[in-house]
Amino acid sequence: MIQRPKGTKDILPTESYKWQDLEKRVKKLLDSYNFKEIRVPVFEHTELFQRGVGETTDVVQKEMYTFNDKGGRSITLRPEGTAGTVRAYLENGMGSMPSPVKLWYNMGMYRYENVQKGRLREFHQIGVELIGSGSYLADVEVILLGKSMFDALNIPDIKLTINSIGCPKCRSEYQKVLREFIGKNLDQYCDTCKTRFEKNPMRILDCKEKRCKELNVGAPMMIDYLCDECKDHFENVKSMLTTANVKFEIDPGIVRGLDYYTKTVFEFIDEKSGLTVLGGGRYDGLVEEFGGPSTPAVGFAIGVERLMEMYNENNPEVEEVKPDLYILSVGSLENKKALELTNSLRKDGFIVEKDIFERSFKSQMKYADKIGAKNLIVIGENELNSNIAKIKNMATGEEKEVELNNDVIKEILK
Ligand code: HAM
Repeated sequence: MIQRPKGTKDILPTESYKWQDLEKRVKKLLDSYNFKEIRVPVFEHTELFQRGVGETTDVVQKEMYTFNDKGGRSITLRPEGTAGTVRAYLENGMGSMPSPVKLWYNMGMYRYENVQKGRLREFHQIGVELIGSGSYLADVEVILLGKSMFDALNIPDIKLTINSIGCPKCRSEYQKVLREFIGKNLDQYCDTCKTRFEKNPMRILDCKEKRCKELNVGAPMMIDYLCDECKDHFENVKSMLTTANVKFEIDPGIVRGLDYYTKTVFEFIDEKSGLTVLGGGRYDGLVEEFGGPSTPAVGFAIGVERLMEMYNENNPEVEEVKPDLYILSVGSLENKKALELTNSLRKDGFIVEKDIFERSFKSQMKYADKIGAKNLIVIGENELNSNIAKIKNMATGEEKEVELNNDVIKEILK
């Protein structure tokens, strides 16, 4: 039997209704912040991620699903949503829309990672990108939205950590100091880190290798080398978050795994598992990197599978939607009546089931019970002739006589 590829997941009906509930609540919140949905291709030209996410990141160096298509072009399955969204923003002239442009997405992402708890090869992200505002107020707006998502899903055990990783101006000074620190033990770092030393030493701080992590202890932190503008920006973010009553911790160790970040970066951590559920930050250079005008932006993405774990723990009462009615019928004329009623009630938005097996009375009863139908109507010869039947509430056992007429039944199902 062919099995699903490692690191992928089937979302079955026993779970998909929970995804739908989560997505519905999140969508409502995104609407309230006036973010609009964007959908971008599953695959892009490889160069987009090389330039956007960064040549020296783990994502680009180790984790991309890259292949040549039949036309010989190098194509990559999107490992994240920001690069594609910014490409679409530029390619479709969205810069001429009222600024800021506020976009959200809910899309599958692909990373060839070592599979473990909370780490898949196909996973989903709900993300937002706020393009156009360089103000600290935009950072706060986006962080508040992130916080509100956890609130909307009744998830309490979440910790917000923030940091600033500066701008290209202050970073070059920091990189010098960092190279001095790492350079002392460079021969002990992994081969990937060695290749990062000259081009992008900050990436070394993000290495997942145990030995490299140990060597990184005590490294100088970007937050201590911020220029005045970045420092001011970060102070304003912190003070506004405090005003908004949002609790946060400063974690100078957050470097984020993608190269496009500038200034504020943040993560929401599941306090029970220690996993990062939401990651994001400001990326003021990306639009320009892709050939557009200088345009600041800020955003985040939540890992939906990780979020689902937390949602499940905190929302045990969410139940699958059950059919409003099962219409039981045996015999061809009775079946016609059942079909007519089913069609018309379904058009009115009710969930209605009927026999499509030519099953016996008894097995239809069993089936109606198994699928948890809330009400049951039996159409037999008598009911057909009199056009009157009993509707039974399956939870209370209560029965009522009703005319076999859509409007009458509708009133009871409501
Ligand atoms: P990221 O930190 O790479 O950021 O991913 C965001 C979230 O996606 C993570 O916190 C995690 O919950 C989830 N995630 C990442 N990799 C996996 C995986 N292999 N399996 C399961 N979940 C995973 C970004 O992707 C940025 N594009 C976020 C962003 C948007 N920054 C600005 N705008």
